Order: sequence, then C-alpha cells, then structure tokens
Amino acid sequence: MNLKGRNFVTLLDFTPTEIHYLLTLSEKLKHEKASGKPHRHLEGKNVVLLFQKDSTRTRCAFEVGALDLGMGVTYLGPSGSQMGTKESIKDTARVLGRLYDGIEFRGYLHTDVEQLAAHAGVPVWNGLTDMYHPTQILADFLTVKEHFGKLEGIRFTYVGDARNNMGNSLMIGAAKMGLNFTAVAPKDLWPEAALVEHCKTIAKDTGATITLTEDVNKGTEGAQVVYTDVWVSMGEPKDVWHSRIKQLSDYQVDEAMMQRAADDAIFMHCLPAFHGIDTEMGMQIANEFGEEHPRVKNGEMEVTDAVIESTQSVVFEEAENRMHTIKAVMLATLGDDYE
Ligand code: CP
Ligand code: NVA
Repeated sequence: MNLKGRNFVTLLDFTPTEIHYLLTLSEKLKHEKASGKPHRHLEGKNVVLLFQKDSTRTRCAFEVGALDLGMGVTYLGPSGSQMGTKESIKDTARVLGRLYDGIEFRGYLHTDVEQLAAHAGVPVWNGLTDMYHPTQILADFLTVKEHFGKLEGIRFTYVGDARNNMGNSLMIGAAKMGLNFTAVAPKDLWPEAALVEHCKTIAKDTGATITLTEDVNKGTEGAQVVYTDVWVSMGEPKDVWHSRIKQLSDYQVDEAMMQRAADDAIFMHCLPAFHGIDTEMGMQIANEFGEEHPRVKNGEMEVTDAVIESTQSVVFEEAENRMHTIKAVMLATLGDDYE
C-alpha cells in the first residue's frame, strides 16, 4: 500500500482497501503509543495547521500526532495569517507548499481545501469543511471496530442534521466500508440527493445499505450505533437556532431512544456536544428557547446528559482515536518506511 503524496480531502477519493489500511495503521500507532515505543518516523519534516474555524480535538490531534512522529508544527488560527484577507488560497498554497511537507486545513468552503490541494504540491489534509469531515470518520470507524470487531454489516444510525459535514461524511464512509447506514432526520435536513445516489452506487459493491427516514422509531430500532452531532454547525448564522430546534427536538437522543436500539448499542458523537448548561451556548439556548421547547430547557440539545454520561457512550474513546487516526493519515501520506 502506498499513499505517499496523496491528499486527504474526502473519503470519496479512497478505496475500501486504503481506508482499511489507514485503520490498521492507526491501531498499530495506538499500540506503539500505549507501549511507549517511539515512532518518530517523520523526523525533520514540518507541517502547518490552517484553521479558519475553532477546534479542540482536530488541532490537538494534529499537533500531538505530528510531535509524536518527530515533526515540527506551526498553527495558524482564524486570525493569524494573510490567507483570505490579503492573500488568495492559491498563493497561500504555493507559499506554504515550499516551506512545509504537509498542510492541514479547516475552513468553510470545500472548494478552498480542494484549491489548496491543487496548488500546494505537498499533501493537504481536510480538518473539516462545511461539506465534509473525513478525519473524524476514521476515528469513528476505529472506535466501532474496537467495540464490535468489524465494520461490515454494523447497523449504524445517524440522528439529527443529516446534511451537515458529519452526515455527509458518515454516509460516504458507511457506503465504502459496508455498514448498514440509516439517517434519521426531517426531509429538509437529508443529504443532497446526488450524494445519496452516489453512495448507493458505491454500496452496491461493498454490501452497504443506505436508508433515509423521518421516522425516529423505525430508524433507531435495533441500531448498534446511535450517532448524533450538533443541530447548528460552525459557520451557520445564529438565527437558525430557533427553526433548527423546532425541526430537531423530536430527534434528540435520549434514554428512550437508546432503549429502542440494540442491547449492545453504543452512543457516539464527534463532539463538542450540547448536553447541559455548563457552556455559554447551552445556557443561552436554554434561557431563550427552553420554555417553548421543554426538551432543551436544561441546555440538552442533540443528546441528553444521561445518554452522554451513560456506559453506552464511547465519545471520549472516539475523541482519543482522532489522534491515532490523524497520525496514520500523516504517516501514510508523508512517510515511506514505517513497517
Ligand atoms: N470533532 C471535532 O472535530 O472537534 P473539534 O472541533 O474540537 O476539532
Ligand atoms: N457539524 C459540526 C462538526 C464539529 C466537529 C460543525 O461543523 O460544527
């Protein structure tokens, strides 16, 4: 398997064999880290992390991953560079490509990460755009594999805003890796029809199934994985909160929903999650909308506190796996000798 020099902007560009390979490499790196075995395979290289949006997990996973692999790291935050304000993406790509061995990008337009990838001349990794979040899917699938020993045939249900970056990317990942994927969401929040059709075509070869439904009971019954994400994503205007709560409060993941899932079901969330009033936003939403929509009155939105704190929840394993999987992506695309 040779992924050296490849970009990682969407899972659509990768075969199931390549994705399996990245997951296996992640397991190996996770094991090496746990056993204290040094793995500075990329010593002397440098990477730059470009963030137009905030991040905890993705930034830290790239930083710690790069440092563990022996690399130097530069972080450029939402206000820390000329990109976009005084310098085009294309020029930024050509400058950074001369200084660095790899570039991570988190931003708004998916076309921006594509442009970077087209002009940098070094691997570009997508750390989230409005459309896709592919490194998150690797972490999620590693977590599923660790829990169930496999990906093929797993009944994976995504509940909530199914047309955001997570809904899109999970559907693609499931189609590629042979999962039985169900998106449970109001029709207005289903992924674009063209992407659904494309995933169904991929699914024909992998044994995956892709189902979209508005029916919460049917869609979650017997699910082995119940997955959700925030109802309003980064970059969306604040004034969509009201309508989104109206659309999605029946889709909140609560204990009753988890009861309908399989006995051994796990709960997953890419995080950050709204499950209480211990965040500014959680408190604000509870105060503003709690009376009209009792489900959010305690700052619990896409998931209740009881579910995220339950033994079925694997959200923190999932968060840790961001680092092992991102490390695998960097190593596979930059390295040439890591057997
Ligand atoms: N899941 C995820 O991408 O988290 P951050 O926004 O903290 O990077
Ligand atoms: N859909 C979320 C994912 C965060 C990791 C967002 O884009 O804000």
